[in-house]
Amino acid sequence: MRTYWDFYSAGKLLFGPGVLKRLGPEMRQQGFMQPMILTDRNIVAAGIVDRVLESMQIPPDQVTLFDKGEPEPSLKVASQAIEVAKASVPDVMIGLGGGSNMDLAKVTALLHAHGGNISDYYGFDCVPSAVTPIIAIPTTSGTGSEVSHAAVLTDSKQELKVSTLSHHLRPCMALVDPELTLSCPANVTAESGMDALTHAIEAFTARYPSDMTVGDETSLPYPGKNPLADLLAEKAIRLISTHLETAVKQPRNMQAREAMALASTLAGLAFSNGAVAVVHALEYPLGVSLHCSHGLGNWLLLPYVMRFNRPNRLQAFAEIATFLGCDTSNLSVEKSADLAIHAVEILKDSLGIPARIRDLGASREQLPEFAKKSHGIERLMDLNPRHPSEKDLHAILQDAY
Ligand SMILES: NC(=O)c1ccc[n+]([C@@H]2O[C@H](COP(=O)([O-])OP(=O)(O)OC[C@H]3O[C@@H](n4cnc5c(N)ncnc54)[C@H](O)[C@@H]3O)[C@@H](O)[C@H]2O)c1
Ligand SMILES: [Zn+2]
Repeated sequence: MRTYWDFYSAGKLLFGPGVLKRLGPEMRQQGFMQPMILTDRNIVAAGIVDRVLESMQIPPDQVTLFDKGEPEPSLKVASQAIEVAKASVPDVMIGLGGGSNMDLAKVTALLHAHGGNISDYYGFDCVPSAVTPIIAIPTTSGTGSEVSHAAVLTDSKQELKVSTLSHHLRPCMALVDPELTLSCPANVTAESGMDALTHAIEAFTARYPSDMTVGDETSLPYPGKNPLADLLAEKAIRLISTHLETAVKQPRNMQAREAMALASTLAGLAFSNGAVAVVHALEYPLGVSLHCSHGLGNWLLLPYVMRFNRPNRLQAFAEIATFLGCDTSNLSVEKSADLAIHAVEILKDSLGIPARIRDLGASREQLPEFAKKSHGIERLMDLNPRHPSEKDLHAILQDAY
């Protein structure tokens, strides 16, 4: 039985409005002279790449710019980035954008350092040693990839999300400047914000290390529920509940943007040192097949998975209700847990984006296949507080349909 947990982050975390100006000095201090920036055209158009270049103060002929990043990046785009890296021999990868570009930078850093095929590294702990250093600069508030050990890509042929998880993929530096999220479109703000909320809620309600079936010596991708991840998740939920709607409806509101940027990084630390579970497992096949963002897929599923998990985590859900601002005084733990689910549904409805799986054009006939594929993601099933059968997963999907 495992009785301990461990904790990791980016090598260095810099946070706050205007902190982008520290990029150049930090790079010089670490001796990085030949960066490759992995980004996309929206980030270029928003003027963010120019700001990064200005901060770096490195001659343009020493900088490689890869701007072909895309949402939920495909294996094809990753292969293109790796080819560019081979030709330009960068000494640091800069993931600039949302989770998609940061994950692309992680995979490029991995293949640039170790060669082989991306598929050689699927799963946990398959990266033999350090990768090319990664600097992560998020421009959305949601994924927490800037501090996490995960990189997720889309295998369009097999209609699957594939991931590699390794502590070697945690960036050497995460630079979180909330000003960079001011241009983030409303739907991306809403959907990535729900991803952060899902990270925090799944971490807070996950299995305990002592409930895991694996032994002491086994290295795990996620250690499960623990007090430090709980603390981070609690703060993230409080911030999201107070500020997400404002960030969506008043995109230039700096206080809301800063709060969401902080919530996202805290939730990233919580899940990558705690857990994600059944919401994420169900989202992977659903998101690929319905071509929706990761955050939107999570959003469609979160309250229904909470309802499934409720019997096994009454106390945790009752606490979540208070983090979400509900008044639970004089309420039983059962009623308080119900309030948490209700509060998530209210938040969901307040943001005016699709609410049901059917709204994305899915048919009911697709649901059994989603359930089957999700059930196969054992590492996430094991982290869920209530172990679902394939039939349970199908029932959750039907509720969310
Ligand atoms: N590695 C991890 O730990 C982790 C965790 C959760 C999710 N993810 C992955 O992250 C991806 C989703 O990332 P995301 O939600 O951040 O969205 P995203 O990176 O896919 O970006 C969505 C869109 O928003 C645009 N955009 C982003 N920031 C902008 C800005 N400031 N101004 C203008 N446009 C902007 C992008 O160009 C893109 O078109 C998925 O692939 C998901 O699987 C990874
Ligand atoms: Zn996520």
